Amino acid sequence: MKILITGGAGFIGSHVVRLFVRKYPEYQIFNLDALTYAGNLENLKDIERSPNYSFIKGDITDEDFIQQIFAGHGFDRVIHLAAESHVDRSIHSPMDFVRTNVLGTAVLLNAARKFWKDNAEGKLFYHVSTDEVYGSLTDKGFFTEETPYDPRSPYSASKASSDHLVRAYNHTFGIPAVISNCSNNYGSNQFPEKLIPLMINNIIHNKPLPVYGKGANVRDWLWVEDHARAIDVIFHKGKSGDTYNIGGHNEWKNIDIVHLLCQIMDRKLKRTEGTSALLITYVKDRAGHDFRYAIDAGKLKAELGWVPSITFEEGLESTVDWYLANQEWTNHVTSGEYQQYYTAQYSKR
Ligand code: NAD
Ligand code: DAU
Repeated sequence: MKILITGGAGFIGSHVVRLFVRKYPEYQIFNLDALTYAGNLENLKDIERSPNYSFIKGDITDEDFIQQIFAGHGFDRVIHLAAESHVDRSIHSPMDFVRTNVLGTAVLLNAARKFWKDNAEGKLFYHVSTDEVYGSLTDKGFFTEETPYDPRSPYSASKASSDHLVRAYNHTFGIPAVISNCSNNYGSNQFPEKLIPLMINNIIHNKPLPVYGKGANVRDWLWVEDHARAIDVIFHKGKSGDTYNIGGHNEWKNIDIVHLLCQIMDRKLKRTEGTSALLITYVKDRAGHDFRYAIDAGKLKAELGWVPSITFEEGLESTVDWYLANQEWTNHVTSGEYQQYYTAQYSKR
């Protein structure tokens, strides 16, 4: 089987690529990534020489190029993760999100349509999406696969559009397709613009910990390797045309996570208890900030038998250990463009 994985140099994509390359030596894995600020081949150093792995540098919005690689490699299946993924950036530059997330998905679907039209047997377009398409919850209830779409940021609207395109191509052209919508991921190799690695990095460097609003917003956190395991299960056992929600039943208020990280870091860095928490700084809220996300992953458990493999406490300890042991990685990815982004995002708050 020849599998095209898009966005495989990013956070979740690199974990998915590693899992597939190691677990399925009989599959040929092609990782297509434009290597934007968020993509980093250092994430895949340990598997880059595997005989069943190839890297292709390219942009999913480049239609001629995408058609060329489909023609050249004859992909049987696609796992589509490439995207602009950070909500704050979508508030600064919405058009980047429309271009990559909407147009890029359409370009990939068109290639699948063209090259699979005569024989769709065994083919699959697996689209990796987010729980944010469902909107924002109050303090009760969960997102299920039947929750109506109600995206509220340019990021979530662009992901919702891409989900609709995948369903439309499945319905109209018979492209075999599945979609999964996952909650917030955390773990190694996550770009330090996202809450958990940003806080870890700032604690290490004694920088202010910017908590948006009152820190009362709630997210449902899942260890990235458990997301990759869920993608593996859905890829092999999911029903074409279906959607699967993925989540850890692990809701946390932002401020509670930040305090927990401060405690863990004080212990690991041998600082007096309470030292890191002094860095907490409440800043202006994110525009249109969704209050709460919480996933009901009951369908995935009941139909395909997936449940998370580790607790949040275990996952967070191992994540903190990874960032402490890999400060070089953080230094590389935060040099250059990220410094400008950080100043623009946090200096005026
Ligand atoms: P990420 O930002 O870490 O990685 C995105 C990758 O896509 C990068 O390697 C980047 O170089 C690549 N990319 C961006 N634009 C591209 C283009 N035009 N052509 C080719 N490659 C391009 O993102 P992530 O957090 O790993 O998220 C991966 C996917 O999972 C996204 O589709 C996201 O919407 C979805 N998702 C993320 C989370 C989360 O918590 N991070 C949760 C649910 C779903
Ligand atoms: O729910 C899934 C989504 O989770 C994914 O689809 C997105 O790709 C991913 O980025 C993530 O979106 P969030 O906006 O929830 O994640 P982020 O890490 O940016 O923020 C988590 C919460 O922390 C959110 O309520 C905003 C808050 N926050 C974030 C940052 C970066 C702060 O309080 N301070 C910060 O500096």
